Amino acid sequence: MERAILLVAFVALGFLAVSARGEVVEHTFRVGNLTIRKLCQERTVVAVNGHFPGPSITAHEGDSVVVHVINGSPYNITLHWHGIFQLLTAWADGPGYVTQCPIPPGGRYTYSFNIIGQEGTLWWHAHSSYLRATVYGSFTIYPRAGPGAYPFPKPYREVPLLLGEWWNANVVDVEEESLSTGGAPNISDAFTINGRPGDLYPCSRDQTFKLRVVHGKTYLLRIVNAALNQELFFMVAGHSLTVVAIDASYTVPYPTDVVVIAPGQTVDALLDATAAPGRYYMAAHTYASVAGVPFPNTTTTGILYYESSPPSSSPPIMPALPAFNDTPTAHKFYTNLSALLRPCDPQVPLAVDEEMFITFGLGLVPCDRKNSTCAGPFGEKFAASMSNNSFQLPTELSLLQAHFFKVPGVFTLDFPDRPPVVFNYTSPNVTLDVGLLQTVKQTRGKRFKYNSTVEVVLQNTALLGTENHPIHLHGFNFFVLAQGFGNYNPTVAKRSFNLVHPQVRNTIAVPAGGWAVIRFVANNPGVWFMHCHIDAHMPWGLGLVFVVEDGPTPSSKLPPPPADLPRC
Ligand code: C2O
Repeated sequence: MERAILLVAFVALGFLAVSARGEVVEHTFRVGNLTIRKLCQERTVVAVNGHFPGPSITAHEGDSVVVHVINGSPYNITLHWHGIFQLLTAWADGPGYVTQCPIPPGGRYTYSFNIIGQEGTLWWHAHSSYLRATVYGSFTIYPRAGPGAYPFPKPYREVPLLLGEWWNANVVDVEEESLSTGGAPNISDAFTINGRPGDLYPCSRDQTFKLRVVHGKTYLLRIVNAALNQELFFMVAGHSLTVVAIDASYTVPYPTDVVVIAPGQTVDALLDATAAPGRYYMAAHTYASVAGVPFPNTTTTGILYYESSPPSSSPPIMPALPAFNDTPTAHKFYTNLSALLRPCDPQVPLAVDEEMFITFGLGLVPCDRKNSTCAGPFGEKFAASMSNNSFQLPTELSLLQAHFFKVPGVFTLDFPDRPPVVFNYTSPNVTLDVGLLQTVKQTRGKRFKYNSTVEVVLQNTALLGTENHPIHLHGFNFFVLAQGFGNYNPTVAKRSFNLVHPQVRNTIAVPAGGWAVIRFVANNPGVWFMHCHIDAHMPWGLGLVFVVEDGPTPSSKLPPPPADLPRC
């Protein structure tokens, strides 16, 4: 292809602040309307290149990725490369109004970045409104030396499994209705595996993902939770799995029958095709961590079948998924994983420069409807917050532009290191405490010096209920030192810190009514969103931004934005 020419062009233009050592992986993503049938209904959704899910990206560590996005959809859109570090390319990260203004209908923008120091399963998705419901795809990074360099035996085949969530409605309308009434968004109508709901839904028998396997071979399942609002249990009947990576970070091999995966997370699991030849369902349904809140209780299925087994008329064997509210099973999976740190991998930094204690959960803001009450609790509007700051995105300029060009008045850098009010965070007595529930819309961030080591205690509150929230940090992986239930107690918790091989993630499912401690090195200048990856909670305000200053050398300074960065 035009690789050589492109590489020369990019180096000449100085786009590649860090020289690329591999190849240029180039794609054109045309975003536009797509009309498809699901669950007996015809629907027009937003999709990339006429495909749902969208195109898969594969690259090797060391490659450069260039994606030309052409927005032919009727909506503003941005794309995000979930889990990619974006070293010195914060302008390509993608969260709307954080690192860029959206690409308007008819507009275009080219995302260019390098893949440095990471390999495994990631994914890409739209990062404005609820559009990621249909605008997403897998993003697989192979080791530079190829699959032979995995720290586990090379599998016979690799299988991306994108778990998604489908509405019999326009998802932008679903979000807008929720934000205007102040109530919770309507729940979805189906889950999907690689865009296919599966046998248990109406009109879906011909929309079932099928995986043909050869007896005796090993398969690598690259599982992504691309659902908007639900954590999921996943199982394959008749087969146990061995987890070898999470969030594109290798783990000590972990044998398990069930995988739990929160929106934003990925799990790589080996499956040995050694069962009796036959047909087996793979299935996923909700892990509903919060009591008393409606959730979609349907199950998506795919079929794993042995090539030697005759196409039989008997139905495939169904796995026994855990109960929806099986928190002990979820917690066991989430906490039993540990990293497989090789000598070349970053090790846990032991000295901490910045310590934050952040409470987070749901809350309320006053109703702003003229002649009616709002649909949230107490007639108010649902909100969510971190340390009682309900994060509000700007509308006139992205935060990264405001930071880079020193434009005042767009956001403040006074996000507190401790929550403003100390209370019994996880006590059921606070759940309906009208005083504590009130939160305030603000756009506040926290600034770190380049290369500082940051430790954050993420403390879930019981406000409007305790719920497991998947907190995602852009731009960095972090170590998960410890997790637990109840209120964080440093004296006890510190004794349990794993400082040797803690799991490495970009999205941590913080236990419902509990806490997690994460640590990372702020070695990438830019403005980085940290937010709940449940799409219902993000616009409600469950987020904040970290601003990482430039470092002292030219190679540690964020370059100016590309010329085609969209304007608001
Ligand atoms: Cu996968 Cu800010 O998102």
